[in-house]
Amino acid sequence: MERLVHISDTHISRFGMFLPDRLDACIRIVNGLDPPPQFIIHTGDLTDYGILMDYEMAVEKMDEFVPDIIYVPGNHDERNYGDSLFREMVSQVDVLNSFGKIVVLTLGSAIPDSDNGRLGRGRQQLIKQKMKGFGEDILKIVAFHHHLIPVPFAGREKDILEDAGDVLRIILESGVNMVLMGHRHVRNAIKVGETLLVNAGTVSCVRTRGRLGNSFNIIDLYSDGSVEVSEVGIPSGEARSIGRFPIMRGLL
Ligand SMILES: [Fe+2]
Ligand SMILES: [Fe+2]
Repeated sequence: MERLVHISDTHISRFGMFLPDRLDACIRIVNGLDPPPQFIIHTGDLTDYGILMDYEMAVEKMDEFVPDIIYVPGNHDERNYGDSLFREMVSQVDVLNSFGKIVVLTLGSAIPDSDNGRLGRGRQQLIKQKMKGFGEDILKIVAFHHHLIPVPFAGREKDILEDAGDVLRIILESGVNMVLMGHRHVRNAIKVGETLLVNAGTVSCVRTRGRLGNSFNIIDLYSDGSVEVSEVGIPSGEARSIGRFPIMRGLL
């Protein structure tokens, strides 16, 4: 079995909607996982305002996680010219990361100073190009912030990717096994065609939905080609399976 941790929407800031004790609890839970994850994916809204003080605090806090972290920027990260700081202080975007038999294509879906999301034709092409040529024993993941399809329990629908229809078509045609997203602050896992679409809740933002609370996802990959997505409550650390889904024909 291989394991990933999917976190999102930390909203780190000294001023905004950030709950520091929730992030500390998440760090404690993730660093204590047995087995440990191969890596962590953060699907955006790392910071709340995208300002320099937020990024300085975020870099310091995220360093407390033991596993490596892959990042994509959210709409909050690209406020106030924060897109420049994200790329300088956190991570490059639109790149393919490789961890053994797992590849992750990160894509920036945020539009500076807007809550809307869009990949656009360039990134749509990137999905086609980068997901090509891998065998069926390679788990192909695409990660971005905005949601590709509506998420239940998230209130009024808004900010879905503007080009969601075309992106969905390309993802299904390109043999992507799993898409990881955030933004709605609600966890979800649903299979569309052969592809599993996964949203993470919010780790440490005050803006939770109903009684869903703060959480992150553990994604366990089994040798039969199925993955189990579990939501872990923060600060309780209690894991609850959202479902187990067959997504690969080949064995990991
Ligand atoms: Fe968010
Ligand atoms: Fe967001």
